[in-house]
Amino acid sequence: NKAQAWSARFSEPVSDLVKRYTASVYFDQRMADFDIQGSLAHADMLTAIGIITADDNAAIKRGMAQIKDEIATGHFAWSIDLEDVHLNIEKRLVELIGDAGKRLHTGRSRNDQVATDIRLWVRHEIDLAIDLLHQLRRALATLALEHVGTILPGFTHLQVAQPVTFGHHLLAYAEMFGRDTERLRDCRKRVNRLPLGAAALAGTSYPIDRELVAKILDFDGVCHNSLDAVSDRDFAIEFCAAAALVMMHISRFSEELVLWMSPRVGFIDLADRFCTGSSIMPQKKNPDVPELARGKTGRVYGHLMALLTLMKGQPLAYNKDNQEDKEGLFDSADTLRDTLTIFVDLIGGIKVRADSMRAAALQGFATATDLADYLVKKGVPFRDAHETVARAVRVCEERGCDLPDLALDVLQGFHPSIAQDVYGVLTLEGSVAARDHIGGTAPNRVKIEAERILAETGKP
Ligand code: ARG
Repeated sequence: NKAQAWSARFSEPVSDLVKRYTASVYFDQRMADFDIQGSLAHADMLTAIGIITADDNAAIKRGMAQIKDEIATGHFAWSIDLEDVHLNIEKRLVELIGDAGKRLHTGRSRNDQVATDIRLWVRHEIDLAIDLLHQLRRALATLALEHVGTILPGFTHLQVAQPVTFGHHLLAYAEMFGRDTERLRDCRKRVNRLPLGAAALAGTSYPIDRELVAKILDFDGVCHNSLDAVSDRDFAIEFCAAAALVMMHISRFSEELVLWMSPRVGFIDLADRFCTGSSIMPQKKNPDVPELARGKTGRVYGHLMALLTLMKGQPLAYNKDNQEDKEGLFDSADTLRDTLTIFVDLIGGIKVRADSMRAAALQGFATATDLADYLVKKGVPFRDAHETVARAVRVCEERGCDLPDLALDVLQGFHPSIAQDVYGVLTLEGSVAARDHIGGTAPNRVKIEAERILAETGKP
């Protein structure tokens, strides 16, 4: 039985179930391009140090180009007998070019090979995610610029707190996604180290040039311990953690979109292409996309937990457990990529119902704090001002009116220092305009922040 690359040592073949159980080619074939990239760099290095000839290297390049093409066009015959992406490609290479193909694996093991592939794959996904986060922040900042003066109630405890501008509210998410971008950039530094050269676990007796391979593959440097290089997947866990945080922010935003779109709230409408109807209730337009994004956040959290658990019990160095790192990692990246792509478009399609926002902000005494601040500016200590306004709010509740609806003499009954100019601070516009400092909700501040984000995320 010569089916497996290692089968010469075995006296009986594995059962079909064990074959399926141990194979990873179903899912790791998607790393094929990176596997080939790694092999080509390894072959260049073997040539540079004189282990293989330039002719061998040329044959490897030719064979790999054909394999790449076969895979891209769906003509590559993946075989479960060959366990994983690495052995499938290597076998085909030998078929195509003979002995030169057999020389490729000199000074290398699947253990450092797979670690290299995953790092290349994660690096690529990080770059895609960072680009999508840029686009997402641009979409948020663009919508925010249109709504620097649109006012809605700001909530704490989901109770009306103080008026805020819609632009300010949107930019809160742009800040979160900005930190997510930083986290991914930071994670990239640790992903971008070359494990190749660690071989199975101890390094190799060939005079390899790891720095050269790192340079060819655009790594920032090499892993400095072979045992660590082949065994740890902390870089993938870090990526999954960063992805989980992005999804957590997406999920918070989704929750608000769902709430805002409820007819009971009616702050926004989403474009039809992000919603679905009901098969029984003809009137329904459901915000499926944000709901699903909220739901999919759960699976991304789950993958993070799975990877952490996968790693925790493993002694040095490589163990087959690590083959289980891929599906969760891939699914996290896929979910992240799809979600971000959809949300860039979704934000552009948000229809804002400024009237409903304003009507809601006019309920619930959103400018009560402004009245207290007004009294403080007239010399009343804040705690006394707070109590005075609380009494005024109670009277309003009894009468079913809002603070600016109270006549001046009624307001003066609460405190003699209240004058005609009080009505200026009780308006929604007066309230938001007063919060005019870095990070405040005032329209001119929101404009500055939105423009900063657009500049930050603009193509250089
Ligand atoms: N398919 C394996 C993985 O994903 C590649 C490394 C296997 N190495 C080994 N000695 N069995 O981790």
